[in-house]
Amino acid sequence: MRRTDYDTEQYRDYARGRALTEQQLQAWMSAFGALLPGRRPLTGLDVGSGTGRFTPALARAFGPVTGVEPSVRMRETAQAQSQHPGVRYPAGAAEDIPVPSGSADYAVVLQVWHHVQDKPRAARELARVIKPDGRLLLRSGFSDHMPRIWWLEYFPRGYEVDASMFQPLHEVIETFASAGWRVADFRTVTEPSSGTRGDALEGLRLRAHSIFAHFTPDELEAGFRRLEQAVAADPGAPTPATPVPLLTFERRQCRGG
Ligand SMILES: C[S@@+](CC[C@H](N)C(=O)[O-])C[C@H]1O[C@@H](n2cnc3c(N)ncnc32)[C@H](O)[C@@H]1O
Repeated sequence: MRRTDYDTEQYRDYARGRALTEQQLQAWMSAFGALLPGRRPLTGLDVGSGTGRFTPALARAFGPVTGVEPSVRMRETAQAQSQHPGVRYPAGAAEDIPVPSGSADYAVVLQVWHHVQDKPRAARELARVIKPDGRLLLRSGFSDHMPRIWWLEYFPRGYEVDASMFQPLHEVIETFASAGWRVADFRTVTEPSSGTRGDALEGLRLRAHSIFAHFTPDELEAGFRRLEQAVAADPGAPTPATPVPLLTFERRQCRGG
């Protein structure tokens, strides 16, 4: 997959182009809450926290969170815009998480896994930092379980290009299984509408989605033209809710000795 460098691309517009509504955030916190250990507070990790779209909401819902993010520019935006007394944003990456072993009750890895270069190392590093009864929540596309994102139907090869960016589910599971994880849950979370189609189009024009780098210039032009025509017919209509896969891992317990 083409590598996205968030220090030169997207960092300016990511927070605006990918903003979540309060209702969307609530839906995610409620889905996470059902999968995390029941005690509170929990010590959390938001691995690949980006501009901190989820980080303060995680802190409000569950307890202190460390947002680990390799891109300096994404971190700067998070530090400026996504503050909460229970949140910090050190430099780091999924392969190299700057917290002590066994110190986190959970980690969320949200739309990050396809960007991680050394996946086996990252799966082992997550096993190092999460407590034995902790959980790892992975929101990602899987090439054989792709959500049908409404605006992609207007782009030539939209769904095909989207699927090509991700591994199939079994490959992701195998990487984590080799690092001592097992699947605790696999479900679909319904992300509520982001608002009107007109507003969504304004966000998409900011191109804060890695998939746009995978289209040819002609495909991009045709896609945006078709999307604009479709939205112009009813710009005030709400975007559809989207079913999104969420994979949860727990540690395999060592037996004996
Ligand atoms: C699509 S953004 C998602 C950001 C955030 N999780 C969200 O949902 O808004 C992908 C993020 O993953 C980060 N990233 C890339 N490689 C990474 C790695 N190896 N470990 C952790 N994060 C990484 C990028 O810098 C970027 O901020």
